[in-house]
Amino acid sequence: MSTSISNETTFSGKVALVTGAASGIGLATTKLLHERGAKVIAVDRSSDIETLARPGIVPFLADVAEEDSVVRAVALAIETFGKLDILVNNAGIIINKPVVDMTLDDWNGILAVNATGAFLFSREAMRAMIPAKQGAIVNVGSYACYQAFPTIAAYAASKGALAQLTRALSLEAIDHGIRVNAVGSGDVVTNITNHIHADGPGFLAEHGKNAPIKRAAQPEEIAEVIAFLASDKASYLVGSVVMADGGMSVALK
Ligand SMILES: NC(=O)c1ccc[n+]([C@@H]2O[C@H](COP(=O)([O-])OP(=O)(O)OC[C@H]3O[C@@H](n4cnc5c(N)ncnc54)[C@H](O)[C@@H]3O)[C@@H](O)[C@H]2O)c1
Repeated sequence: MSTSISNETTFSGKVALVTGAASGIGLATTKLLHERGAKVIAVDRSSDIETLARPGIVPFLADVAEEDSVVRAVALAIETFGKLDILVNNAGIIINKPVVDMTLDDWNGILAVNATGAFLFSREAMRAMIPAKQGAIVNVGSYACYQAFPTIAAYAASKGALAQLTRALSLEAIDHGIRVNAVGSGDVVTNITNHIHADGPGFLAEHGKNAPIKRAAQPEEIAEVIAFLASDKASYLVGSVVMADGGMSVALK
C-alpha cells in the first residue's frame, strides 16, 4: 500500500454524499468539498436542500432514518456520478429534556436520526465502496460523544453510539481500504437549537464562551476538519474521534 501523501487538498474526481446538507455544518461541508472539486449528493429532509442544485451538486430530499431513502440516496450517487468515495454522516437533531419528562418517541426520534441514520448510510456506503477498495466515512459527533450535562441524555447516548459505531466500523472497513473517523464538535453557530431557543444561533454563540477558546465555532471551521478526515491527507487516521471543540473536552471545571 502506498503511504505517499498528496500536497494538494483537492477532491477533484471524488464523489461525496453529505447528510444534513441544507444547513450549518453540512451546508458548509457541501460547499467546501464542492469548491475543492468533489461532486456531491446533498441529502436533507428540508426542502431547502433544493436550492443547492447546480453543476456538481445533486440535492436529494430524504430522511436519514428511513431505510428506503438511504438505499436510494446511495444508488443516486452511483447512477449520477458512477461511484461513492466519501460519506459524511452529519444530519443530527437535539432535544433538551430531563429523562423523567422524556417520552419514548422523544428518545427514539433522537436515536433514529443521530445513530440509526449513520448506521444505515454507513452500511450502504460500505457496500458501494468495498468493490473500489477505497473510501472515507466521516461521522459528525460532538463533545457529547464523551461528555454530558443534565437534559441531554438522549443526545449524549446517540453521540456515544456514533463514536462507538465509528470505532467498530473502522475495524471492519480498514481491511477494505476504507477509513472511518469522526469529528467531535464543540458549540457551533447553527440552527440546531432553533426549536428550543428563540435565537438558536445566538444561544450557541453564548454557550460557546464556556469553552477554553471562549467562543463557539463557525460551521466552516468544522467543515475543514471533516474535509481533512475525508482526504488522503488523513491516510493514517482509523477510528479516531478528533475533537474540534475549542478545548471543551480538555478543561476540568
Ligand atoms: N451546532 C452545534 O453546536 C453542534 C455541536 C456538536 C455537534 N453538532 C452536530 O453537527 C451536526 C450538524 O448539526 P448543525 O449544528 O449543523 O445543525 P443544523 O440544524 O444547522 O443542520 C442540521 C441539518 O440536518 C438536517 N436533518 C435533521 N434531521 C434530518 C433527517 N432525519 N434526515 C435528513 N436531514 C436531517 C436538518 O434539516 C438540517 O438541515 C449534527 O449531527 C449535530 O449533532 C452540532
